[in-house]
Amino acid sequence: MPDALFKPVRKAVFPVAGLGTRFLPATKDVPKEMMTLIDRPLIHHGVDEAVESGCSEIMFVTGQGKESIRRYFEPSPELVAALRERGKNDLAEKIDRIHGLAAFEYAYQDKPRGLGHAVLCAEKFCRDEFFGLILPDDVMIANPTVLRQLEAVREKYNSSVLCVERVAECDVRRYGIIDAEEVGDGVFRVKGLVEKPAPENAPSNLAIMGRYLLSPSIFGCLRKITPGAGGEYQLTDAISLLLEKEPVYAVLYKGTRLDCGVKEGWIKATVIKALNDPQLRDIVIEAVRESGIHIS
Ligand code: G1P
Repeated sequence: MPDALFKPVRKAVFPVAGLGTRFLPATKDVPKEMMTLIDRPLIHHGVDEAVESGCSEIMFVTGQGKESIRRYFEPSPELVAALRERGKNDLAEKIDRIHGLAAFEYAYQDKPRGLGHAVLCAEKFCRDEFFGLILPDDVMIANPTVLRQLEAVREKYNSSVLCVERVAECDVRRYGIIDAEEVGDGVFRVKGLVEKPAPENAPSNLAIMGRYLLSPSIFGCLRKITPGAGGEYQLTDAISLLLEKEPVYAVLYKGTRLDCGVKEGWIKATVIKALNDPQLRDIVIEAVRESGIHIS
């Protein structure tokens, strides 16, 4: 069992080694995580959320062709100096803040071999602490952040906490699904998990979304699993093993999830984020009006 003393999570792991095939040809030479959502790369949105949730150390589990992620979070003294020379001090400040958002570390995943394998690559970084796991494709609009909502439950139970959402029956095959007993308002004790089940085999419609707080005991479990659904090392299978040693909880988070893993979600995320931004809101409304489309 992990240390009984509650310590706020300060480490976050971002698996970013995926190929981004759904966005080809856009991702032929640019990692999906570096594509722009409004004014920043997608990955910067996830990092902001981790920092806002209290994390000060961030690990990216990267792969081939992802060098620009590292470059983005490194200092850019030449660009900052050039901006200052032109009197663009605000912009220089903004750029200069990026590398100081957190302490960044990197692990390399030679091939995308599943989420379980990616998390195992972060073992040395996490050592014996609880850590946050953020799948940056899921952009969360929530206040407090979803990670903070999970922390509130971890504080009570000192256990791993998953973030779940109720999905339509036809969608259970896209997610890890939990079998669970409700122990509080929107809080569940997990009894079992199945990765991407057929609707007839799904134990519930509670689907795991891209935010986790995991106990360091997960690493021992990750070392024991064999390839599961889709021939990949599944984190869900390791959490099933973890259940034999420790309790695991899940929370129905409060907020909006925008699935930027698919084009449709990306477009929605762009529009919703723009509508939430006072400087961009009118532009979206104007564009819809000018297009002649009538929205009732
Ligand atoms: C992964 C997990 C799955 C989870 C999903 C959330 O699947 O394996 O359990 O529900 O993330 O986004 P992936 O989307 O990588 O196929």
